Amino acid sequence: MYICSCRALTDRDVGNAIQGGADRPSAVYESCGCKPDCGRCVNRIVNMLKEHKKDAVPA
Ligand code: FES
Repeated sequence: MYICSCRALTDRDVGNAIQGGADRPSAVYESCGCKPDCGRCVNRIVNMLKEHKKDAVPA
């Protein structure tokens, strides 16, 4: 599923960036080698970041 249609980022691309340590939307774009265009996808990325934090097991 596409998260960002401007940059053709899928949920897998964003998930991989988050798994790789991206902790905010700008870091996700950077990790994917792009910059945001219209910004419509930012909320979706923020939600994925929140989900990831929620699922994270405290060390
Ligand atoms: S949908 Fe991601 S920048 Fe436009």
